[in-house]
Amino acid sequence: MKKSFLTLDDADLKGKRVLLRVDINVPVDAGKVTDTTRLDRIAPTILEIADKGGKVILLAHFGRPKGPDPKESLRPIAAALAEVLKRPVAFAEDCIGEVAASAIAKLQDGDILCLENTRFHKGEEKNDPAFVDELAKLGDLWVNDAFSAAHRAHASTEGIGHKLPAYAGRTMQLEIDALNKALEAPKRPVIAIVGGAKVSSKIDLLENLVTKVDALVIGGGMANTFLHAQGINVGKSLCEKDLAPTALRIIAKAEAANCAIILPVDATVAYHFAPNAPAFAYGLDSIPADGMILDVGPRSVARINAAIDDASTLVWNGPVGAFELHPFDAGTVAAAQHAAARTKAHKLVSVAGGGDTVAALNQAGVAGDFTYISTAGGAFLEWMEGKPLPGVEVLRPQ
Ligand code: 3PG
Ligand code: MG
Repeated sequence: MKKSFLTLDDADLKGKRVLLRVDINVPVDAGKVTDTTRLDRIAPTILEIADKGGKVILLAHFGRPKGPDPKESLRPIAAALAEVLKRPVAFAEDCIGEVAASAIAKLQDGDILCLENTRFHKGEEKNDPAFVDELAKLGDLWVNDAFSAAHRAHASTEGIGHKLPAYAGRTMQLEIDALNKALEAPKRPVIAIVGGAKVSSKIDLLENLVTKVDALVIGGGMANTFLHAQGINVGKSLCEKDLAPTALRIIAKAEAANCAIILPVDATVAYHFAPNAPAFAYGLDSIPADGMILDVGPRSVARINAAIDDASTLVWNGPVGAFELHPFDAGTVAAAQHAAARTKAHKLVSVAGGGDTVAALNQAGVAGDFTYISTAGGAFLEWMEGKPLPGVEVLRPQ
């Protein structure tokens, strides 16, 4: 990877107060963390800094509180992190001021401290300079390991990087490296699979992708809008009819950029949106007027898999069917398993991320077989849209 920013290799950590921005915005149910993936991912960075004698001071947000709110305290997450790290993680009830400063003053080299939710202060999301200063004075340097929060220009994700020497953490490095391999400097041909319910939420993403990839598979509810735009009757399927002109514009842009658009050629249709609803495969010329397309059909899966075979790099965002309802997960699972097998055979570099994508790949049992799975939701989408991410940009030497 072209090293366009400083990493832990460049930092003198011993005895330093290291403000480490992490994304530990994890799912919590009844006070218990239900998925530790994000905690597992940041563990190497935390342990490396601690083992090099740095004082690790974690900065993070949780949820979207409007002010201090015990329900959105980071305390239970800090406890879960201690279990993942198998080391004590101290906790301070505020991320600035006397409470934070005195907790930091107690740290020995190699200790780990988690500060309370940065979003308890309004200055965080506003990237308010006074709040940035309050944070910055707690540390000697800043390490950003929160790619998945890098689309936010907040005080702890961006502002502070202008005040302290800034370094990328190991997870950030891995993430950027994987994403570079997928879109910036990929081994061609590159295929993208984009699914999800709505075109409206992914217009920018599709417009960017058609200029970068060689083939674009469109699945999920959003494919219905494209089919409708091409004159196909999609029955009662989810479809943003008003976006037909947008869909046609994207198709034209793809043609001009020499990107093949791969739409479904058949569909799995049901009459109820319910688990185990009776499902039928239909050709596109005969979708029943009262039916709903809930997944790509078997011929479409074969086509997607053949397109994956032609590719050297795959970037995947969004399930191609209503994967949360069996049997409408079939298309997503089959394509994911095919991509996983090609990856295992060293024929494919596969990168996936964003919202439901990780859950879908977990459901297919193949998350471990992809080259890289990003834990980022919104940040992954903005990266696919080709937008600069403030939390990454601030790491580049000025
Ligand atoms: C995420 O979970 O996607 C990140 O932590 C960002 O959270 P946000 O969408 O609340 O800014
Ligand atoms: Mg989000």
